[in-house]
Amino acid sequence: MSGIIVIGSQWGDEGKGKVVDVFSSQSDYVVRYQGGSNAGHTLIVDGKKTVLHLVPSGILHPKTKCIISTGVVLDIETLIVEIKALKANGLLQDPSQLMISDTATVLLKYHRELDQAREEEARNEKIGTTGKGIGPAYEDRASRKAILFGDLFNPETLKAKLEKSLDEKNFLLEHKYKKSPINIDSLLKDIEVWTEELRPYRNKNTSYDIHQALKADKKILFEGAQGTLLDLLHGTYPYVTSSSTISGSACIGTGIGPNQIQKIVGITKAYTTRVGSGPFPTELDDEVGQHLGKVGNEFGATTGRKRRCGWLDLVALKYAIRINGITNLALMKIDVLSDLENIKFCSSYEIDGVETHVYPSTPGELAKAKPIYKSVKGWKGDISKAKALQDLPAEARSLVSLIGSEVGIPIDVISVGPGRDQTIWVKPLF
Ligand code: GDP
Ligand code: IMO
Ligand code: MG
Repeated sequence: MSGIIVIGSQWGDEGKGKVVDVFSSQSDYVVRYQGGSNAGHTLIVDGKKTVLHLVPSGILHPKTKCIISTGVVLDIETLIVEIKALKANGLLQDPSQLMISDTATVLLKYHRELDQAREEEARNEKIGTTGKGIGPAYEDRASRKAILFGDLFNPETLKAKLEKSLDEKNFLLEHKYKKSPINIDSLLKDIEVWTEELRPYRNKNTSYDIHQALKADKKILFEGAQGTLLDLLHGTYPYVTSSSTISGSACIGTGIGPNQIQKIVGITKAYTTRVGSGPFPTELDDEVGQHLGKVGNEFGATTGRKRRCGWLDLVALKYAIRINGITNLALMKIDVLSDLENIKFCSSYEIDGVETHVYPSTPGELAKAKPIYKSVKGWKGDISKAKALQDLPAEARSLVSLIGSEVGIPIDVISVGPGRDQTIWVKPLF
């Protein structure tokens, strides 16, 4: 058993990309298993920034193999842009470093256009999607109409599937949303070029390869995208994404058994952010919220949208621990809390006048939740150069230990800045 799942425990953007990059130095494989280019994972090494949307965050380590497995919705146009940028930076020189599953779902421009058209039409009831076509692509998969990555290499199958898809999609685009229809011949021509560019990365059986690697005791990281509270079934529905974002999805999206997983590392910011619509009990509309957004540079890595900010919510974090089976935590961005007089975290909710420590099961209930806070004294000064727990001010250390004891899970990693080297290991990964 050498599989480790890295999972977002809030509403995404917790710092999964940074953690996966840091862990990758000790890992043989990194696997993306759900979501698509709605993800934006930021890696900062020696001051240089790389944002990845589809390529797994192990790619900066040439010896680490990266797999995009079945559960991903694959925007082939975006993927090619990403691959070209990596190559231009001297990375991904060996094509065998990246493998794409033949059974991943292909996402094309009509998925993006439908996603955007629906959001435009929704006016006051927007989900606030990234506009990357994620919902429409997963709909095609569920309704058994999807074009799979392997279909791209079979022109007859591809043409037949695309004709069928466009028949329906163009009807919607033209007649419901008053947009221009998509021309099949020109799309087929583009796909032909993209297919040749992606041919070197084709893998016919990633599930088998991952299984063999696990059998050989290789170290494998499963890189989650989005976060627990955006999960299609267990998140703040309907303000969620269209995939399952919780840890169980790592097994489903790759085709391995749950008994192959050794650890589930939950990534959490020391405060909370959310992009898009939906309930957010600890959201701050005051100067502290603005301070967190400014110091934390809280703008989406995919859409550039301003992230909503608020205090850390331990009721939600305990829920994430429960439904993911999180065994260890990485606490991110504690440097952003420096210089605040007092730091608060939500330890329970009041719903209809009754205090509860249990995360409500319906979004309607969550929308009524009023946070009950605990407050601790803050610290002054820059902590972004701390290399060990002892380098942190006493107040920061006691905050870390308080959070760990409130949720009952050890905090193994503390992140004090965006850089790879701004990481404190409380306990080794393996
Ligand atoms: P992901 O989607 O979970 O990979 O997270 P994003 O990359 O979307 O957002 C996290 C942001 O926080 C990025 O800009 C990171 O560079 C940055 N970041 C990660 N860890 C830290 C940290 O400990 N401190 C600070 N200040 N920034 C961090
Ligand atoms: P990473 O992997 C934060 C949010 C969108 C919107 C909702 C649905 O970088 O953490 P979608 O385009 O998926 O249909 O949008 O989900 N969302 C994210 N928020 N981080 C992400 O990914 C997200 N991916 C989707 O803002 O509210
Ligand atoms: Mg992100």
